[in-house]
Amino acid sequence: MRLNSPQINLITRACLKASKSLIRDFGEIENLQVSTKGPGDFVTSADKRTEKILIDELQKAHPDYGIVTEEMGIINKSNLKNRWIIDPIDGTMNFLNGIPQFAISVGYEEDGEIICGVIFNPIMNEMFFAEKGNGAFLNNSRIRVSNKKKVKDALLVTGGPDFSSKIKKKIFTEYMNVSGIASNVRRFGSAALDIAYVACGRFDGYWQRELNYWDVAAGIIILKESGGYIDFFDTDAKTPLKKNILATNSNIHEELRDLINKKDIE
Ligand code: IPD
Ligand code: CA
Ligand code: CA
Repeated sequence: MRLNSPQINLITRACLKASKSLIRDFGEIENLQVSTKGPGDFVTSADKRTEKILIDELQKAHPDYGIVTEEMGIINKSNLKNRWIIDPIDGTMNFLNGIPQFAISVGYEEDGEIICGVIFNPIMNEMFFAEKGNGAFLNNSRIRVSNKKKVKDALLVTGGPDFSSKIKKKIFTEYMNVSGIASNVRRFGSAALDIAYVACGRFDGYWQRELNYWDVAAGIIILKESGGYIDFFDTDAKTPLKKNILATNSNIHEELRDLINKKDIE
């Protein structure tokens, strides 16, 4: 049964509204790729337009709430009690290349804890959402994590490093440690959807360094409410919006964490 809390309704409405122009923009990408100007500026404006629609809709209902967004930074800084955490397009490189693996991601945080969240892939028409205590859903169906018990049987997903990363070697070492054991490892290019896919059992686990809070905020509650486990490693109190994430079906969590921490490459 689908839940209909006011907060979830508000976010899903905002996502649906924002997705209209995003779908139109995605349809334009093919033409832009052959234009001399290139699609870079266009993507920036698609990001900004989507974010503005989301903010306008959410602010209509709660003008005083804090907002942490990728494009505009922090709005209503002093409100730390109620905050929206927004990534207007997660998976920009996919969007830019005409690959329909990207999503709008909106989380709602109360006193530092994510209470509900929505991750919406408008091209596949897949809306993942959850609220604390009420389970996680994909469109009208309840979702659950997979039941795999061992990393050797698991299909995993990861991401990074970005071109500017200063810890590429470390990230590749971790990748080798894990991929030497796991059944297989994918790289899909949208952190939000990577977590959502663990939540609905498509993947068994996901890890990645050097993410931002808005990449993962909505995913935190969606994964928890689907029976998964999520935690952050190597955290630094000086940069609370930076995240290294490990998100799994719970069963393989410790084994995967040990593999990531392992120093030697086999
Ligand atoms: C990116 C995606 C990608 C991850 C990058 C993120 P963006 O977000 O989540 O999967 O590997 O680290 O920055 O830039 O597409 O919003
Ligand atoms: Ca992102
Ligand atoms: Ca983004």
